[in-house]
Amino acid sequence: MSSSRKALAIVLAAGEGTRMKSDTPKVLHQVAGRSMLAHVLAAVAEAGVETIAVVVGPGREDVTAEALKRAPHAQTFVQAERLGTAHAVLAARAAIAAGCDDLLVLFADTPLVTGATIRALREALAAGAGVAALGFSAADPFGYGRLLQDEAGRLVAIREEKDASAAERAIRLCNAGLMAIDGAAAADWLGQIGNSNAKGEFYLTDIVEIARACGREARVVVADETEVLGVNDRIQLAQAEAVAQNRLRRAAMAAGVTMIAPETVFLSADTVLGRDVTIEPHVVIGPGVSIADKAVIHAFSHLEGASVGQGATIGPFARLRPGAALAEAAKVGNFVEIKNANVAKGAKVNHLTYIGDADIGANANIGAGTITCNYDGFFKYRTEIGENAFIGSNSALVAPVKIGAGAYVGSGSVVTKDVRGDALVVARGRQMEKAGWAASFRAIQAERKAAAKKS
Ligand code: UD1
Ligand code: CA
Repeated sequence: MSSSRKALAIVLAAGEGTRMKSDTPKVLHQVAGRSMLAHVLAAVAEAGVETIAVVVGPGREDVTAEALKRAPHAQTFVQAERLGTAHAVLAARAAIAAGCDDLLVLFADTPLVTGATIRALREALAAGAGVAALGFSAADPFGYGRLLQDEAGRLVAIREEKDASAAERAIRLCNAGLMAIDGAAAADWLGQIGNSNAKGEFYLTDIVEIARACGREARVVVADETEVLGVNDRIQLAQAEAVAQNRLRRAAMAAGVTMIAPETVFLSADTVLGRDVTIEPHVVIGPGVSIADKAVIHAFSHLEGASVGQGATIGPFARLRPGAALAEAAKVGNFVEIKNANVAKGAKVNHLTYIGDADIGANANIGAGTITCNYDGFFKYRTEIGENAFIGSNSALVAPVKIGAGAYVGSGSVVTKDVRGDALVVARGRQMEKAGWAASFRAIQAERKAAAKKS
């Protein structure tokens, strides 16, 4: 496709989403850890579209904010009244008036569409079509607009379910909703769309017949049904999630990640995975995670907003929360939680530990049951542990506190003051022993009890 063609994408996000039964607008519901709107905007960017307009419903500042977060150069338009898909497109008439070669219309509730498919629609325009509609063969076509074709396979019209004859309803080839329109003619054709149909709405789909009446060809570009799944309720949201997860797992494995049971691993759209990473069963990776080459994530671990260095190992049953940054060859074992903390190269945090707001130096060893006491109910404080330090099991490090490099902390210590490098600190009750004390204690108490029974 000639890269000289200028494209404008209009993303329709003004739907009410009533069937989601949610306080959150439909297009902000998430698939693979990011909003459906963000997915569509990512696909648009992937297709090389430089100008983006998002049409939102009135009072939907949250949708506008998400659009601008994901596509900072996007223009946003408000569709004051919901009078149909053509009416929604025309809410962005100022963007259309600025001129483009390819006008693309996408629905923000169709999150699985790919950049490649958007490119295929653009190619149809580059090859001379006036309109290209994305079609799919529906297992159950009910509710979709049907694509009516002539004997040569050219698109003749799109008929909505409610306006279709019985013969038209039998057609399985359906309108996915995505459309590419010749930018030079778009404003004229959109202006001709009326609302004399069963729903009394301005249907974007009428543009096919209008373009043909102007002597232009309309084409169908066929996509797989899983790619054009529209999300109207939570059941379809879960179906979209399943498709998205399968794609992410396959892409990860294709890029050199081993997954023993991929169907049990959950990734996010932004997950970054290196080569020869191994992810064991039942791992959940939330947004903002990157895992470097050769790292191993053992079973039942949960990661979010964390980075894992090369060759590091995590879990089983570990939790990395936002701001956990593990360097190369770090080791985080079972029942360990790490939050907002740097764990330097080769450091080990192997068992039953909470590390929050901390810096752990290279090759430090954090014993079982260590807790960084980072919060006083009002503020958070940092713990600094130098390289090669050894923290004995069941120690509480009361922040703010620094443990110098190479220092030893005796097991069971509650450390409230800084510890110098290479020092030993023991902050617990001193052990004392009285020889024979227990035997004489037992003898005395037994005698008292016997005396008490007699009286
Ligand atoms: C639409 C298509 C239908 C297609 C189906 C695919 C039309 C007339 N029909 O039907 O051919 O098979 O999608 O899912 O285009 N929207 C607005 N403002 C409006 C109306 C709609 O922003 O005034 C947005 C919605 O938020 C949604 C999209 O446009 O993202 C589609 O609208 P919807 O009412 O769901 O159309 P369908 O009846 O599903
Ligand atoms: Ca719909």
